Amino acid sequence: MSPRSCKIVIAASGSVAAMKIPILIKSLLEPSDKRNYVFEVHLVVTEHAKHFFKMTDLPTDVKVYDDALEWQAWQQRGDPVLHVELGKLADMMVVAPLDANTLAKMAQGLCDNLLTCTTRAWDMNKPLIFCTAMNTRMWEHPVTAQHIATLKQWGYIEIPPIAKTLICGDVGVGGMADVQTIMDNIVKIADQKFNRVVLLLAATGSIAAIKIPLLLKTLLDQPICATNYKFEVYLIATKAAKRFFKIEDVPPEVHVYDDEIASQFWHRPGDRILHVELAEMADMLLIAPLNANTMSKIAQGMSDNLVTITIRCWPLNKPVVFCPGMNPNMWAHPITAQHLATLKKWGFIEIPPIRKKLLCGSYGVGGMAKPDTIVKFIIEFANTEGLV
Ligand SMILES: Cc1cc2nc3c(=O)[nH]c(=O)nc-3n(C[C@H](O)[C@H](O)[C@H](O)COP(=O)(O)O)c2cc1C
Repeated sequence: MSPRSCKIVIAASGSVAAMKIPILIKSLLEPSDKRNYVFEVHLVVTEHAKHFFKMTDLPTDVKVYDDALEWQAWQQRGDPVLHVELGKLADMMVVAPLDANTLAKMAQGLCDNLLTCTTRAWDMNKPLIFCTAMNTRMWEHPVTAQHIATLKQWGYIEIPPIAKTLICGDVGVGGMADVQTIMDNIVKIADQKFNRVVLLLAATGSIAAIKIPLLLKTLLDQPICATNYKFEVYLIATKAAKRFFKIEDVPPEVHVYDDEIASQFWHRPGDRILHVELAEMADMLLIAPLNANTMSKIAQGMSDNLVTITIRCWPLNKPVVFCPGMNPNMWAHPITAQHLATLKKWGFIEIPPIRKKLLCGSYGVGGMAKPDTIVKFIIEFANTEGLV
């Protein structure tokens, strides 16, 4: 499977620090075994930025866009509008270097070239990093602080300039942050989106729910090099499930929700709806243990608590793995096979129960698969399916 790509728009304006653009882009394109994604770089340049580096110094797989290209791309209705297309394709934008002129334009909403049109049309839900670079006197001018405050107020992320002997010869604050610092910030943001899998664990009232803390610990203890992913886990548990484990035993990094918390979410139109958010946000749903009652409810489309309503809301193009855990007689009952067939027809993936002496004392098939087996399955699945 080829790695996913984090599409990044690097936007360079006319600061002398634009001479570092080839090094920054080379660093981004260098392979790393710490990431399970690669960067795909799209470079936007102002006319003045072009003055400070040679296009021939850029890696060949970088796409470069300038003002002329924006206008060439549009000849008639239906043709792509470059600054809009760049905003759509990109996962993040990094304006580096951001000179005093372009900073002023961005802060005041001007859009007279490809760079400023791209920032002006930017989707505010996507990260935008900016790295100012200017002469110390420009930096110290009171208008600079005003412009930066405006950008930060919009949620843009500042990588502040550093003090050094500037390329113009002056000594003081104003130099663009070094390439490694910019890289570290970009990777941190990209990791949050690409190097993690959001797993929603739905637990129901089977005695196997006593293994929930162990299951979570096993999953979260996986070293990142083995998984390529970091799991971010959300746990929703029915009232009965919570009788079998102590919330204090759940690893602290797990986000825990139940019906009581859910009821605090929605009071009036416009408020957040927890089950909708969970179903939209998570990459994968694991129902473990799945007891006979909730299996019946899911198969019949019922949604009378946070667990069943979230499952009812779950988009069927995202994976669902379920691990039945019930008494052998319940498992052997013909209705179980019917419900199982319904779930599988929807694409739900079963990790079958095992034969053992169950915690309830009975012997037979019905015990939830072991936490190790479940975690191994989840990791293999996440790695092969390239979840996000
Ligand atoms: C050699 C040279 C170096 C410059 N370096 C900077 C700089 O580091 N920061 C800055 O804000 N402006 C700098 N400028 C001024 C900008 O290039 C100028 O404001 C230009 O209009 C910016 O255009 P742009 O924002 O569209 O790229 C420099 C100009 C020259 C001639």
